[in-house]
Amino acid sequence: MKFKQLLFVIMSIEQRMQSFLALRKQNNLYRNLKNTNDLIDFSSNDYLGISRSAYVRQKTELEYQKYQYSKSGSTGSRLLNGNSVLYEALEQDLANFHHAEAALIYNSGFDANVGLVSTVIQKDDYVFFDAFIHASLHQGIKLSNSKSVLYNHNDYVDLEQKLQLTPTNAQKFIITESIFSMEGDKADLLELVRLSKQYNALLIIDEAHATGLFGVNGSGLCNEFDIEKECFARIYTFGKAIGMHGAVIVGSHLLKSYLINFSKNFIYSTALDTHTLLSVKHSYCFLQLFLNQRIKLFKLISYFNSRVHALDLRNTIVGEGPIFGLVVPGSEECRKLALYLQNNGLDVRPIVYPTVERGKERLRIILHSYNTQNEIDILLSLIVEYH
Ligand SMILES: Cc1ncc(COP(=O)(O)O)c(C=O)c1O
Repeated sequence: MKFKQLLFVIMSIEQRMQSFLALRKQNNLYRNLKNTNDLIDFSSNDYLGISRSAYVRQKTELEYQKYQYSKSGSTGSRLLNGNSVLYEALEQDLANFHHAEAALIYNSGFDANVGLVSTVIQKDDYVFFDAFIHASLHQGIKLSNSKSVLYNHNDYVDLEQKLQLTPTNAQKFIITESIFSMEGDKADLLELVRLSKQYNALLIIDEAHATGLFGVNGSGLCNEFDIEKECFARIYTFGKAIGMHGAVIVGSHLLKSYLINFSKNFIYSTALDTHTLLSVKHSYCFLQLFLNQRIKLFKLISYFNSRVHALDLRNTIVGEGPIFGLVVPGSEECRKLALYLQNNGLDVRPIVYPTVERGKERLRIILHSYNTQNEIDILLSLIVEYH
C-alpha cells in the first residue's frame, strides 16, 4: 500500500476532508460562496437580460393566476405525480422550436448531460470527446464505462486520426459543445457532421451557450449551420440566455422513450414546479418577440471586438460570441486581476484550475444586451492599465 493510501486508511473522515481542503487552500484553489453584488455585470450567463425581464415575469404571473394551478410544486417525479399538460405542451413547443421529433425536459443542464450520456452510451461503445467539454458531460462519460477517447480542443485532424484507429463495427459517438463555455469559441459543426458520417459516429451537441443567441430566433448554432437533423441528440439549457433553470434534450421519439425508461436522472428526481415551466415557456416567447435584445448584444460584441483590435489585445482576449477569455496564468495572478476589476466596480470572475487547465487560468468576460459601450471602454482601459 502506498504511503498516501495508508494515510487515508488511518485518518478519520473529518481528518481526510480537512486535509483535502487544506491542500486546496495551500494551492490557492479554495472555493467559497459569495453573495451576488450590484457591480456592472460582466459575469452572469443572462446574455439577453431575460431573467430580469418584466415581460416574462408578468406573463408568467398572469398565466399562473389565470389557471389557478392547484399546486406550486410538482409533488413527484414525471413518472409519478409530477407530469402535467403544461409539461407536455412545453415539450411539444420546444421540439417544434428546435426542429426535432421529440423533447424531454430535465431539471438542469448538468442532469440532462449526465442522464443522456450515461444512459445511451454503453460499455463497448467508443465516445470521442473534445478536451474542453463541460464537467457534466465528463461525468456522463465516466458513468457510461465506455471506451472514451479525448481529442484536442477543436482539433479535427486529431479526432479523425483517433476515429481511424477504432474498429469499424463499433458504435461510436462524438460529443462537443457548440459554443465552448470557458473559451467562448465555436466548434466546427460542419466538419463534425462530415466526420460523423464518414466514420459512422453519432453526434451529441451541447448547445448550452448557443441557446437563445444563434440561429433563427436563437434556436442554436446547429440551426444556424443547418445541421439539426444530423445530430443524434442536442441539449439546450434554460440557465443561460433563457434566464431560468432546467434543460431539454431533443432528438427522436425513440430516444425520448428510451430516456423516460432508463435515465436515472430523469426517473428518480422530482419534476420542475409550475412556475418554472411557465417562466421557461414565456422566456422562449421572449426570444421570438424581442429580437432587438439579440441585435443589441451582437452590436456590443462587434464593438468589443473592434476595441480589442484597436488596443492590440487580439492575442490576449479571445472569443467568438458573448464569452471572452483573458488568459492570466496562475490562480493567484488571475484572482488578483479579477479583484482589481471588482474593486473598480466591474463584476468579472476568475476561472481557475480545475475548471480550466493549470496555466490557462482566465478572466471570463461575458457581454450582455444590457451592457453599454461605455462599460466596455472602462473594462478594457482597466485591463490595459493593469498590464
Ligand atoms: C456547456 C454546459 N453544459 C451544461 C451546463 C450545465 O447546465 P446547468 O447550469 O443548467 O446545470 C453548463 C453550465 O455551466 C455548461 O456550460
